[in-house]
Amino acid sequence: MADTPLVVRTTGADAPETNPPSEPCVMLIFGASGDLTKRLLVPALYNLACDGLLSPKFALLGTAMDALTTDSFRERMSTDIKKFHTRKDFDQKIWDDLVSRFHYLPGGFSDMGVFETLRNKVKELDAQHAVGGNVLFYFATAPRFFGLICDNLHKAGFKEGPGWKRIIVEKPFGTDLESALTLNKEVLANWQENQIYRVDHYLGKETVQNLLAFRFSNGMFEPLWNKNYVDNIQFNVAEAVDVEGRGGYYDSSGVLRDMMQNHMFQMLAYLCMEVPGSFEPDAIRNEKAKLLQSVRCYTPDEVARYVVRGQYGPLMDDQGKVKKPGYRGEKDVSNTSKTETYAAARFHIDNWRWEGVPIYLRSGKALWKRGTEIIVEFKKAPEVIFRGTPVTALGANRLLFHIQPYQGIEIQFQAKIPGPTMTLQPVNMRFAYGDAFKASRYTGYEVMIYSCSHGDATLFSRGDLVEAAWRVAQPLLDYWAATPAQFPNYVRNSWGPKAAADLIAKDGRRWHEVVTGEVLKTVPLFKDGDMLFLEAVIMALRAKQVASGELVIRKGDVGRELYLLARGEVEVLDDVDNVMKVLRDGDIFGEMSLLMSTPRTANVRARSSCDLFVLDKADFSRILRDSPQFAQAVQQVARDRYNLNVQPQALIAPH
Ligand code: BG6
Repeated sequence: MADTPLVVRTTGADAPETNPPSEPCVMLIFGASGDLTKRLLVPALYNLACDGLLSPKFALLGTAMDALTTDSFRERMSTDIKKFHTRKDFDQKIWDDLVSRFHYLPGGFSDMGVFETLRNKVKELDAQHAVGGNVLFYFATAPRFFGLICDNLHKAGFKEGPGWKRIIVEKPFGTDLESALTLNKEVLANWQENQIYRVDHYLGKETVQNLLAFRFSNGMFEPLWNKNYVDNIQFNVAEAVDVEGRGGYYDSSGVLRDMMQNHMFQMLAYLCMEVPGSFEPDAIRNEKAKLLQSVRCYTPDEVARYVVRGQYGPLMDDQGKVKKPGYRGEKDVSNTSKTETYAAARFHIDNWRWEGVPIYLRSGKALWKRGTEIIVEFKKAPEVIFRGTPVTALGANRLLFHIQPYQGIEIQFQAKIPGPTMTLQPVNMRFAYGDAFKASRYTGYEVMIYSCSHGDATLFSRGDLVEAAWRVAQPLLDYWAATPAQFPNYVRNSWGPKAAADLIAKDGRRWHEVVTGEVLKTVPLFKDGDMLFLEAVIMALRAKQVASGELVIRKGDVGRELYLLARGEVEVLDDVDNVMKVLRDGDIFGEMSLLMSTPRTANVRARSSCDLFVLDKADFSRILRDSPQFAQAVQQVARDRYNLNVQPQALIAPH
């Protein structure tokens, strides 16, 4: 079997022209009538075909219980592709050629007769398309069938004959440590580890693959990549969506199984692993496994100390009526469910490089924004040499990996504000993928299918890696199963439970909140801004924390800032301190001050400790001077929304 390892490949318009196409094969998909095939696998094959990266010697054979024929399968795929393809324009000619190579046979996964028929059909397609005996099996089924299908493929003699035989297994791989161990045993009973490709679709993301490229192709960062220079690392996977009708699945899963144990631990391994000897799949996977084996497995006391969980509650309107149900009100979810839709944790990596460096992870559904970021926060420079200057505190340098939806890398540092005194301001250097590369949008599955056909397992998880990840997750699952949960404990559209802020505050740190263009576009003033404008605004945002009870805005003061409330609650008060309105995570206040320098019309007080982003009028004017066309748009919003007649000249005048 020719399982030659290859280096990480990248598909797409920016990939070097020299990339060979995928290797010839018959792709046999189990569960071909399901969602994954139509939403991701077929669009990925189509993208590969468009980029000239799919071998012309290729055929697809789908199978599932649904009583489809080859004709009806082709018809269905031809309708679905129009909905799910990811390219700007649809190329009918390429599609027609691709779909003409699709076939379908119905049947159950426990029926040996079906496997015999599939075997004959694969042989026929092999001869017809000259694929040399190569077969790529794709298990797009519920995990309970994985072992059974492996077994039946073996019994039906699929392993015999020339060419390679490889199996791609979809997630989840196990639901806890014990089931993962059993599944590995079943899958490996008749197959070799180097034939099994366990999918984690995060590994297919370009920005995740780039973590390795960034670390190991740039000489300037690796020397700093350790406990001597790094203060802490934060992984943030925030989802704005709720369980989206998948309550049946999610209620027996939860965020730890659904996001942390797999996707986040994969990113953690990439970011923190030792330098591999080469880019060969096993050189990388060995280091990943070593890293995950060094993550401390917690005792119950440690779980209680270092991990918090949350579940979203309903969103209410101003009259106290439920606008959107909480998790317990979702379809197919028990109304006493203890399943966590949010988790935040501090992990320890007990090795030479990272000893003592807190590794914080947090993820949740129904949050204020969608955004995946990794933040490496470096130790601060000594403040002492700035004594005698107006500088009282230095911010930390941060390296930010924006994984999605915004894709980029950013370095935050301090710069001197031009002027006669030594005053500092945090500034950024940003690299945006969109500016540097012109690749089309991908599903993430292209590179998986492509790599697997070349026998490159870099982007897939290995048995020992999956087990190591479950070993870390298992004590959390056990502890949670044994203790009551105070749910719900966060409101939809918020930053998650307060316990998560407290968890990191105990260490004297804060979660680093990232504002993206997408978030900013929810503010009416900025909604029509182009990316350049929005980035200028983001860079000008200043993080500010206020304590509970503190006055954020004082009535009568001349306003010079807009506030974006990232976390917490503020109340708008009338003259006798009655609460007129409560603002929460994601709300904006003080925007009139960006438009006109008029006295503030009400007091605004923090009801809890708050994380705010502040945009100064002076910065806003400077940005508008650089994008004068946008001043017109702002003038329009001021008129439509606030009934204000603001002249663009007044907006851009220096203050
Ligand atoms: C899946 C989870 O694995 O990943 C989903 O089952 C989650 O619950 C999804 O929404 C997130 O993936 P992405 O690529 O949108 O970040």
